[in-house]
Amino acid sequence: MKLWGGRFTSRADEIMEQFNTSLPVDHRLYNEDIAGSLAHVTMLVHCDLVTPEEGELLVNGLDSILTDIESGALKIEGNYEDIHSFVEMHLTKRIGETGKKLHTARSRNDQVAVDMRLYAKSKASEVMDHLQMLIDSLHKKGAENNVIMPGYTHLQRAQVVTFSHHLGAYAQMFKRDKKRIGNAIEILDENPLGCGALAGTTHMIDRDITTALLHFSKPVDNFLDGVSDRDYLLELMSDFSIVMMHLSRLSEELILWSSQEFKFVTMSDAYSTGSSIMPQKKNPDAAELIRGKTGRVYGSLFALLTTLKGLPLTYNKDMQEDKEQFFDSLDTVMDCIEIMSKMIDTLHVNADRMKAAIKGGFLNATEVADYLVSKGTPFRDAHGIVGQLIIYCEEQEKTIEDLTLEELAKFSTKITADIYDYIDYETIITKGNKKLMKEVGK
Ligand code: ARG
Repeated sequence: MKLWGGRFTSRADEIMEQFNTSLPVDHRLYNEDIAGSLAHVTMLVHCDLVTPEEGELLVNGLDSILTDIESGALKIEGNYEDIHSFVEMHLTKRIGETGKKLHTARSRNDQVAVDMRLYAKSKASEVMDHLQMLIDSLHKKGAENNVIMPGYTHLQRAQVVTFSHHLGAYAQMFKRDKKRIGNAIEILDENPLGCGALAGTTHMIDRDITTALLHFSKPVDNFLDGVSDRDYLLELMSDFSIVMMHLSRLSEELILWSSQEFKFVTMSDAYSTGSSIMPQKKNPDAAELIRGKTGRVYGSLFALLTTLKGLPLTYNKDMQEDKEQFFDSLDTVMDCIEIMSKMIDTLHVNADRMKAAIKGGFLNATEVADYLVSKGTPFRDAHGIVGQLIIYCEEQEKTIEDLTLEELAKFSTKITADIYDYIDYETIITKGNKKLMKEVGK
């Protein structure tokens, strides 16, 4: 069943049919394909390219196809080349000869371009909603657990932070990701319908009508570009890759934190699995899968970049490959955001373990230097003095706050009894600009 049989004298080979069809992949564009056709028909009537009666027949036919697909009465299957052929052939089957007028002043090249833009636009905004759900989960979990913990650089204990501020860092990343996707939507929001195969059409069509009906901000400026452009998919897939990179970093921390070595958090059973041999095991599989699937989303981006790189203008069948890559990238990022959000919602935070971890690693050493600075010692000298102090503590196997005032004063005469309050872990995070850490949601 082909839309283009006229100049052919023999059928395609069976294996070529299989190789060529995109229906098993692009069936999910049915809604956008029909929406695009409905707008196209309205425009055709307006421009006197089909009669109002024909227009009504076409609209009713398209509506009935949509209704039947959604109810399950019409299954998207069979030997059709793609979703566009499927809809048009079913239309003609239902309404007769008038169905053959649907494709007036249109090519599948501008048709698929409009379908994909509509689909990308609506799905990208769903990704933004998902990201907001995750941002809310992170803020909520942080607010409920505004507890002190070690902060790290080089995975070495560095200074005290709060769990809320740590999760808040991820919330900031996902807020930027959301903004990036919003920017990409703004850029892609142009209507390619009316570009025809590549060169527009000799019919007097009105692209402003379909632009308004399909809620695009404007028609594209160049016909050749309109049917060739897949930048918007690359841009979204780049944004999805960055989301995955952020999710993967968070996953890595959850995996580390749930280890016996850290025990900072306990993951819910709902997002963990066990071992077939070791009865005691509880593995953070959901986080590991998110970390693993990051490679897959990067892979889709690189696959499409590579597919497009050598293509001459305008449409080339290579471009049909955009769908599998984009859909897989989209599905993966949506699932991963949702799972991460649920994992965060159900995460148990072991505040005692976090607090206990602060004791080791001299997390208040920087604040001892700050204390000396507040007493007039230049920072570089203060840094050196505290370095000596740390060597002494390590030898004595003591923390800084364990030392007596006498011991401390050996390192600087500026040290007096008020140092103990200054370097107390709980009060540290209320001093100077560290107050920011106490503000939930930052
Ligand atoms: N299935 C095709 C795709 O996804 C639709 C466009 C076909 N156009 C063409 N000239 N063969 O790219």
